[in-house]
Amino acid sequence: MASAPTITPPKIENKKLFIAGKWQDSVSGKTFETINPATGDCICQVAEGDLADVDLAVSAARKALESKPWARLSGSARGRLIYKLADLIEANAKELAALESIDNGKPIRDSLHVDIPGTAATFRYFAGWADKIHGKVIPVNGPFFAHTRHEPIGVVGQIIPWNFPAMMLSWKWAPALAAGCTIVLKPAEQTPLSALRLAELAQEAGFPDGVINVVPGFGPTAGAAIAAHMDIDKVAFTGSTEIGKQIMKTAAETNLKRVTLELGGKSPNIVFADADVETAAKFAYHALFFNMGQCCTAGSRLLVEDSVYDQVLETISSLAGKQVIGDPFDEKTTQGPQVSQQQCDTIMGYIDAGKSEGADCVTGGNRVDRAGYFVEPTIFAGVKDDMKIAKEEIFGPVLSVIRFKDVAEAIERANNTMYGLAAAVWTRDINKANKVSAALKAGTVWVNCYNVFDAAAPFGGFKMSGVGREMGEYALANYTEVKSVITALGR
Ligand code: NAI
Ligand code: MG
Repeated sequence: MASAPTITPPKIENKKLFIAGKWQDSVSGKTFETINPATGDCICQVAEGDLADVDLAVSAARKALESKPWARLSGSARGRLIYKLADLIEANAKELAALESIDNGKPIRDSLHVDIPGTAATFRYFAGWADKIHGKVIPVNGPFFAHTRHEPIGVVGQIIPWNFPAMMLSWKWAPALAAGCTIVLKPAEQTPLSALRLAELAQEAGFPDGVINVVPGFGPTAGAAIAAHMDIDKVAFTGSTEIGKQIMKTAAETNLKRVTLELGGKSPNIVFADADVETAAKFAYHALFFNMGQCCTAGSRLLVEDSVYDQVLETISSLAGKQVIGDPFDEKTTQGPQVSQQQCDTIMGYIDAGKSEGADCVTGGNRVDRAGYFVEPTIFAGVKDDMKIAKEEIFGPVLSVIRFKDVAEAIERANNTMYGLAAAVWTRDINKANKVSAALKAGTVWVNCYNVFDAAAPFGGFKMSGVGREMGEYALANYTEVKSVITALGR
């Protein structure tokens, strides 16, 4: 059998903003560079959106929301458009995967087999919901007929990060479109390319002009303009807890737009001695090192029961040695660069803090000696809860391994964090699994698995990991307003 043709880094033209179905320069005329993190080279110039461009995009989205054809489109017709977009994503999977890999640095095997299929699957799941969004008939006292309508929340502003650019876009666009909203999306300044191509595919699928607008730009300008805009009804954000707080504050100080936030994490991954320890150790490795550690759910605190601690440490250390670090477009590569120089510097700062606070760096701990932003897979043993590397989200290939003695201690230490995005427990004892998963304060708990995502399963954070839920039926509640209609029956 002939092997699949190799995907090569694409040549990319300079990019514009996508507003009202047209490719436009920014009002200011400004552009910015998007960088290939594997080399540090500029890929192309991208029009830099700002307040004035967000204004134009919001006007276009408002007009599309309130006029034909979108305002009159049936749920099933919206569903057909979303299905069509999913089909186009699959038909263009290699090109989209190449855009993800050149812009973000993720290995092509991941972008082709994880990111892009996951993006298509999310659209397909929500396409199926589009004609199944409805209210209830509610019995009330007196001669009245009461029913609820689940109406689109309106114009939504969406701000996404760079770690899973296309997938994060699908988590935002798919439920919004199913619900009948219109969109102004700001991709991360590090990774604008896949969003711009997906806007083009959405147009090809037949979405009317103005339903989807994409305004690349920076956080403090374009992002802040979305958060503050008086004519945006809801803002959905994924990124750091710090910026999430700012967005909520801005929403409160402007028009009380609805807010959903999907923020950081410091997820505990608990391995008990009665687990299938080798499997748990292998998954624990990937729970942190997948996507160069740049996952909101990264299992960055590996809590291991005393009696199997050494065994787990040995297995994960040997896996670190097998990581294939290099060119993201080489199909054998399992670890690419971090997304940017800035993230790389932040991660190295955490590694230095781990060393100076007395954690034991058992493997890695350095930058890789080549162009681009590569960091060695790094494992710290003997990590204490009050160390910086145990408390703060690192968002890089740095794993903290923590020793514990019993169930109560594991639960207490796992929950000893301001975050609550995800957690996992490994044990063959069903009672222990049930007890621990109920006690963990996290939006997702995996039992004997890790990083299992599905468009049908709700996702979001407890505590400072977020507000609201994305994915599944729960996402729709965050893109609709409920209206009670009460009608007098003949007197
Ligand atoms: P960030 O939160 O600054 O950026 C995420 C998005 O928000 C980007 O589109 C950015 O342009 C936008 N943004 C930034 N400032 C804004 C503002 N004032 N108003 C509106 N939008 C704004 O995150 P950054 O700087 O890229 O990464 C820093 C840390 O955040 C990471 O090290 C990681 O710990 C965390 N993070 C968490 C993510 C998650 O999936 N939960 C994703 C990305 C980052
Ligand atoms: Mg880039």
